[in-house]
Amino acid sequence: MGETILVLDEGTTSTRAMIFAPDGTMQRVVQAEITQHYPRPGWVEHDAGEIWDKTLRCAREAIGGDASAIAAIGITNQRETVVAWDKATGEPLARAIVWQDRRTSFFCSELKQAGHETEIQRRTGLLLDPYFSGTKMRWLLDNDEAVRGAAQAGTLAFGTVESWLVFKLTGGAHLSDASNASRTQLLPLDGAQYDPALCDLMGVPLAALPQVTDTHGELAHCDATWFGRAIPICGLVGDQQSATVGQGCLSFGETKATYGTGAFVLTNKGSAIPRSDHRLLGTVLNQRDGKRTYALEGSVFVAGSLVQWLRDTLGLIETSGQTEELARSVADSGEVVIVPALSGLGAPHWQPEARGVIAGLSFASGRAQIARAALEAMAHQTYDLAQAFAADGAAWTALRIDGGMSANDWMAQDLADMLDIAVERPDFVETTALGAALCAAVGAGLYATLEEAAGAMRGPARSFTPSSTDAVRQERLTRWRKALAAA
Ligand code: G3P
Repeated sequence: MGETILVLDEGTTSTRAMIFAPDGTMQRVVQAEITQHYPRPGWVEHDAGEIWDKTLRCAREAIGGDASAIAAIGITNQRETVVAWDKATGEPLARAIVWQDRRTSFFCSELKQAGHETEIQRRTGLLLDPYFSGTKMRWLLDNDEAVRGAAQAGTLAFGTVESWLVFKLTGGAHLSDASNASRTQLLPLDGAQYDPALCDLMGVPLAALPQVTDTHGELAHCDATWFGRAIPICGLVGDQQSATVGQGCLSFGETKATYGTGAFVLTNKGSAIPRSDHRLLGTVLNQRDGKRTYALEGSVFVAGSLVQWLRDTLGLIETSGQTEELARSVADSGEVVIVPALSGLGAPHWQPEARGVIAGLSFASGRAQIARAALEAMAHQTYDLAQAFAADGAAWTALRIDGGMSANDWMAQDLADMLDIAVERPDFVETTALGAALCAAVGAGLYATLEEAAGAMRGPARSFTPSSTDAVRQERLTRWRKALAAA
């Protein structure tokens, strides 16, 4: 048996195939961009066929013709995004509805008005927001003829992105791991499989849903036609849960924040089902032999995508990295505040209809002030989460950060300053992929536990210590709250 791990990292904007050595070193990465479709304001779609084609191509190129060294595959993915396909043909029936898509906000309000939110939160840990998969599935059944037709014919398959890829890789297995399944509003946090009453409430047929599995273990085998060998799939894990594992947040209370397309903070809550009174989410962190570890989560919808928007839509910067030198070039943001509600507001506000705001503009405001305000918005959003976690009895004593945007030293220091706690960043910031490698390595038996795998595969980290004053913090927060009210 080989001893390297092939990780398929299915982000919102790209698909990547990465090879990891047993000591956690990344040996190879092949990447392809995923086309974003925005058919209407607030709608975001992906082509599931494109995701599969590009994933297969990247994986083959990363393997390089000889798959004998690969012990196992680990898949980590953008969560909540719904793919609908036909089990008989193996083809997608409609465009995938992406997690950022807001089209079901009306249905969510209806369910809320009918008084269902408390029960949904109690059972699934989630709130009524278009972010989650259940209402997206319902929308496809209500609005897409091909999806409805397949449901009637009994050939409809729904799944999140890992589920779609497993179906293609195995030639027909219909599985979803518990970390991804816990984002659908159809899986009770204490239930092994989807719940018929929740499915009824959402109007989603149980028969179209995958079987819920562990996040690591020998979960399925690839069809040998793809890579010349039936490589076992030993890790399936939602990207934020994966980053939590990759950051080694394996003990109660340990917390990570990933700054990718969005920003997602997860605190390990051990084996007890997390409850929130402050609009945070309870979610499955991982599952082995049916035994779960849970997390409390704060999901912020816009992080790196704000910088991308400054670059690609406004043309204000040429590269994302430029924000760092622009932020450093001025003493402050000159009272400019950005509320990045470009696709509504997630935790702890949950306002799907909120829209972005750039406040405090004057003739003194230029590119530097706006770039700085964009980076400052990350610390402001994270501060609001920190307050909610603390109010839920899960105050952070330190924060481990990762994701593409965390490479920005100015932003990392600003987080430490605004949160007034130590912020730690691993030298290797691709912790989402590393987490899936850890899961697959344990699932394949290379290591006995995630703790053992983390000890062997995680590298060094750099610490940022707070160096600001309370007066500065309060001044910024006052402006932030004012702008937030306008969003
Ligand atoms: O819940 C959405 C999340 O999984 C998306 O992650 O890495 O694409 O920002 P990312």
